[in-house]
Amino acid sequence: MKITYNGHSCFLIEGDKKKIIIDPFLSGNPNNVIKLEDLKVDYIVVTHGHSDHIGDTIELAQKNNCTVISNYEISKFLSGFKVNVHPMHIGGGHTFEFGYLKLVPAIHGSGIEMADENVFFEGGHPAGILLTIGGKVLYHAGDTSLFSDMKLFGELYDINVALLPIGDNFTMGPSDAEIAATWLKAELTIPMHYNTFPMIEQDAELWVKNLKKKNLEGKVMNPGDFILIE
Ligand code: NI
Ligand code: MN
Repeated sequence: MKITYNGHSCFLIEGDKKKIIIDPFLSGNPNNVIKLEDLKVDYIVVTHGHSDHIGDTIELAQKNNCTVISNYEISKFLSGFKVNVHPMHIGGGHTFEFGYLKLVPAIHGSGIEMADENVFFEGGHPAGILLTIGGKVLYHAGDTSLFSDMKLFGELYDINVALLPIGDNFTMGPSDAEIAATWLKAELTIPMHYNTFPMIEQDAELWVKNLKKKNLEGKVMNPGDFILIE
């Protein structure tokens, strides 16, 4: 599995067969390194309806004629834009061409901002993602607070890579994310959802250093960086 970071909570995931993008926040993302017109993906996964996660989903899905995987409400919303969707919901998993994907809980909101900023489309329940490709397990927490079921995920799944928000204000901050990492016990933990805007500025290197003190492997990825999990 190849994992490429695009800043914020946006990751490109490549298995042997297919290319997937999670939370494709490109055009509004100050740390974006992907050219929307050049990007070819087979699937888009959207954790929740907020604009920094749904991002360029509609344009990208139309251009690539690819499938968007998300919760039922977001899928319904997107299908109104002539986008192929695969609706799922929390607790449900499905075997796709690329591997097995399961939506798990996240504690957050999921409203989709409409053109009139005061109007939201009900975006259902926000999700985290457990993605298994070639026997390797990736956990993308989405936007979430710390919650004790993360301890259960750590017991139930051998997580190879955990992607955790550390930005604070809208999601877990560094200290809660550190607790999450100790519960999840991933082989590698990568911080996300920080330094995109002033409100979520964090010292990610320091956070990783603190993980090391607890014998947890962490890594700061800069936008454009990739890692191979084999
Ligand atoms: Ni959000
Ligand atoms: Mn967010």
